[in-house]
Amino acid sequence: IVDKINVAIDGPAGAGKSTVARMVAQKLSYIYVDTGAMYRAVTWYMIHKDIMPEDHDNVLQTVRNMVIELVPGEEVQKVIINGEDATPYIRSLQVSGMVSQYAKIESIRTRLSQLQREMALGKGVVMDGRDIGTTVLPDAEVKIFMTASVEERALRRYKELKDAEQVTLEQLENDIAQRDLLDQSREISPLRRADDSILLDTTSMDIVQVVETIVSHCRSYVGGERNH
Ligand code: CDP
Ligand code: CDP
Repeated sequence: IVDKINVAIDGPAGAGKSTVARMVAQKLSYIYVDTGAMYRAVTWYMIHKDIMPEDHDNVLQTVRNMVIELVPGEEVQKVIINGEDATPYIRSLQVSGMVSQYAKIESIRTRLSQLQREMALGKGVVMDGRDIGTTVLPDAEVKIFMTASVEERALRRYKELKDAEQVTLEQLENDIAQRDLLDQSREISPLRRADDSILLDTTSMDIVQVVETIVSHCRSYVGGERNH
């Protein structure tokens, strides 16, 4: 009997992964893990300590000794690095602009992937990111690859950020396209659709529709297995 499953949600920036993943987790009473927040927090910490991505020795040393704590919450999952709460800073344009440079580094990916796998051992986890279905949880029972046009994704981000940061829609479109390119072309676990994932183009879907689609895939998996 299958009781709880793991759900992997991957896709490019602004596709709606974190919003939707959190709501799916809520509906299923599962734990939500935002892996992007982990890469963002490490990026913030490195910038904060003046450690450039090219400084391999320093990056390696720092990542080895890093204490990473994840505190799940209702709205946001907090990420605390060596006792410092990175959460308030991780959505800034500065971090968004640098994160892909750090996320391609092997020592960082190895460390974070390992933590992510440990969190999913007990099942009942909804995890979103770039490489969850392909690398972190290749055995996840339900895998979703969520996309939307780059224009729509930039518009969604714009609505979120326009009051907090001085930014134009055009700039966001460029930033997002640039980050997608880096994430897709890196050597280690690039952003790629897993062969066994469900492709979900959300360009003209609202949040509720996307959540319902994913929840129904999860329920039919659990229900289907039960009937065997
Ligand atoms: O929210 P948004 O889609 O803008 O990005 P995010 O999910 O917070 O991820 C930020 C960045 O972290 C991505 O652009 C990737 O460079 C990196 N990332 C990754 O490499 N692997 C993951 N599993 C999650 C994020
Ligand atoms: O995590 P990811 O970067 O994939 O996207 P997100 O941060 O969850 O979503 C970006 C924005 O798009 C949020 O403000 C969502 O409310 C919005 N959104 C939307 O308008 N329609 C959807 N179907 C999904 C998300």
